Amino acid sequence: MRVVIFGACGTIGKAVAAELAPRHDLIRVGRSSGDYRADMTDLPRVRALLQELGNVDALVCAAGSVHFGPLAQMTPELLEVGLKDKLMGQVNLVLAAQDLLNDNGSITLTSGILSRDPIRFGSSASMVNGAIDSFIRAAAIELPRGLRVNAVSPTVIEDSMELYGTFFRGYEPVSARRAALAYSKSVEGAQTGQVYRVE
Ligand SMILES: NC(=O)c1ccc[n+]([C@@H]2O[C@H](COP(=O)([O-])OP(=O)(O)OC[C@H]3O[C@@H](n4cnc5c(N)ncnc54)[C@H](OP(=O)(O)O)[C@@H]3O)[C@@H](O)[C@H]2O)c1
Repeated sequence: MRVVIFGACGTIGKAVAAELAPRHDLIRVGRSSGDYRADMTDLPRVRALLQELGNVDALVCAAGSVHFGPLAQMTPELLEVGLKDKLMGQVNLVLAAQDLLNDNGSITLTSGILSRDPIRFGSSASMVNGAIDSFIRAAAIELPRGLRVNAVSPTVIEDSMELYGTFFRGYEPVSARRAALAYSKSVEGAQTGQVYRVE
């Protein structure tokens, strides 16, 4: 299959690429990394890229930023970071992919554990992750041409513990390699409308 991976050079994306590379042709995309440059918050650019590439069977996203901070200091502008980047960026991928992926293709987005197991300072992440999980369930029942969509919802990743460890006391991290298996299930399996919890 030809698989486009947004965020393929990141912590999770690298492991997803390593899992899929032996069996598929990968196209790695980032804003400033990978084979092609595109910002998923820019829907016309995402459409243009998929058109330019053509013949894409699977679109995977392992990207998306949110603001972490206390609720007492949260502002609409800070919430907008996650809404624009992690949520609407990934929704944009679905909007573009529904017209441009090959028949029976798949889309795999990334949410995260905070939708169901919140931490202090994570209200924006919880909101966005919950929205992604709900969106894919609904999109799955409307997608045409046998297209599928799933989300992978991992707990904190071992390699990110140095960065996020203090926020995630008591959480058992998983390896990026294990999280990558859920992306493989989504791309290479037959299910749709699923949220794959990796924890
Ligand atoms: N790491 C964890 O513990 C963990 C746990 C649960 C969920 N998640 C979620 O998993 C996703 C990936 O996390 P990560 O830790 O692997 O992130 P990361 O290491 O920061 O990597 C993110 C990658 O995505 C690309 N990217 C970021 N924003 C983009 C955009 N708007 N358009 C296109 N590419 C973009 C970046 O490359 P460029 O800079 O070149 O664009 C980078 O390669 C995020 O949604 C995160 O919330 C992470």
